[in-house]
Amino acid sequence: MSLQKILRLPKKRDSKLVESRFEPKRLSSEIPGVVFREYTLPEYPLVRIVLSDEKGNGCYTVVEPELSDEQKRLYSLLLEKLYFGLKPTQEMIRDPVKYVEENLLSIADEIGFGEEVRQNRDVLMYYVKREVGYGICEIPFRDPLVEEIECHGFITPVTVVLRGSEYPRLTTNIIFESEDELARFAEKLSERTGRSPNRANPIVEGVLPEGHRIAVTYSDEVSRPGTTWDVRKFPERPFTAPELIKYGTITPLIAAYLWLLLEAKRFVLIVGATGSGKTTLLNALLTLLHPHSKIVTIEDTAELKLYHKNWERFFTRKASYIGTKEIDMNDLVSVSLRYRPDYIIVGEVRGKEIATLVQAVATGHGGMTSFHGGDTKDVFTRVTGLVPELAEEFKSELAATVVIRRIQNPNTGRVERKVVEVDEISYEEGRTDVTPVFTWNFEQERFFLMDSKEDLTTEAAASLLIARSKQLQLSSQLLGLTLTQLREAFIERANLLSSAVKNGVVEYGVFSQMVVDYYLNKRRGEKK
Ligand SMILES: Nc1ncnc2c1ncn2[C@@H]1O[C@H](COP(=O)(O)OP(=O)(O)OP(=O)(O)O)[C@@H](O)[C@H]1O
Ligand SMILES: [Mg+2]
Repeated sequence: MSLQKILRLPKKRDSKLVESRFEPKRLSSEIPGVVFREYTLPEYPLVRIVLSDEKGNGCYTVVEPELSDEQKRLYSLLLEKLYFGLKPTQEMIRDPVKYVEENLLSIADEIGFGEEVRQNRDVLMYYVKREVGYGICEIPFRDPLVEEIECHGFITPVTVVLRGSEYPRLTTNIIFESEDELARFAEKLSERTGRSPNRANPIVEGVLPEGHRIAVTYSDEVSRPGTTWDVRKFPERPFTAPELIKYGTITPLIAAYLWLLLEAKRFVLIVGATGSGKTTLLNALLTLLHPHSKIVTIEDTAELKLYHKNWERFFTRKASYIGTKEIDMNDLVSVSLRYRPDYIIVGEVRGKEIATLVQAVATGHGGMTSFHGGDTKDVFTRVTGLVPELAEEFKSELAATVVIRRIQNPNTGRVERKVVEVDEISYEEGRTDVTPVFTWNFEQERFFLMDSKEDLTTEAAASLLIARSKQLQLSSQLLGLTLTQLREAFIERANLLSSAVKNGVVEYGVFSQMVVDYYLNKRRGEKK
């Protein structure tokens, strides 16, 4: 994409005065209600982010630096040069913000305002970087605390969801004043995913260069009053299993249990409402798979991030007006079988592709997917509705469901993601048994393991699980381990995860090396 497209020329082209052709729009800095927190981002030290409460509603106010008339003139001249005076280079297109960071002063020298720009460097750098970045939404896009940015239409304030906040969403001071301004922003956003919306194709779903997922409805074709968009931000690197343990989403015992089922190539399904953390948990569990496994992932948008060497990524494709055929999840599950996968992972199943996935896992492939729903019962009902002829096979292949929810911590008031139940499914002669293996007890704020109401040591938990879990017993046969060996493997894994958390090993690279070492040592041990 050219810089011209990134910047977008303002409509007022008739102005003869170059100095005022580009005018930065400064956000209103009025802070509503009572301030309870304030911070800055390292790369934007001049901008304050103020969190406040107005009658129980959370507010996220971006307080930008003021600009003098002289600074506005320099800003316009710099953008004029960026827009009209530079030939687009690869470097500029790949990362326009970095390009501006590195070249602003030399551009200023070229236009003969080097000294003036140097004197006003910080303010100008912020506004120019903002312009080539995400415009008035730059700060929430860069703020790692923001996990979702939602634009409901022009004139209505953009809202954000903040990680670990007690407010489900916060209102910002970021407002698109007209449909035209908003539509142009949505075009810019979409183009960064390689797509361009128009009235014929008003819906865009894609992934931004930073890895964030976007959805856009363009103009008033399918949304009122007009354009809307939503950005799901992901941390720069995926959460690892120890990180989710640290945040209380899962425990070492839950992770060790699922790890063994996955290693035995059993079929595991994560179920939860929208935004409950399904994809994140799926990704974290994938980090536990043997580093040499061949994993095929199938998604609509590129959300999963793996570091396995043998990772194949497939994406669905919509039919286009120039005649390209739609490729759906079903097509991709079928083709993935030709790739000799150890695991087939479907980011999220919504339709009949569940049937093909079930057949794939029935032929000995490991599988994992996620599903929109409230609990295990929902999964059965929906799958029976979708593919009645395969409902029985589905239940007999499914080893466990993991139910995840966003819940409010009663002590801190913060919204957290929690696995509230892990159910084991056993299917015998037409009868399906659902056994809760781990259950989050809301009153006591701890997990119960099966029907044991007290805290168990890892060893005691392992003994109970091996004695009672049919899926673990089946996994021991599939892995060629005796029950005693499987019990040991469970303890080793739970201890490895606990020690990773204790020693602060949460970063992906370091933790995955720990997993590699674990598998290597095990192999060496077996050879002795
Ligand atoms: N355990 C967690 N702790 C903290 N933040 C989390 C956790 N799980 C997910 N998140 C954050 O919550 C947001 C939503 O997570 P995610 O995309 O995994 O949800 P989802 O259930 O897959 O949503 P959807 O149904 O829309 O696909 C992301 O920004 C993610 O980084
Ligand atoms: Mg998801």
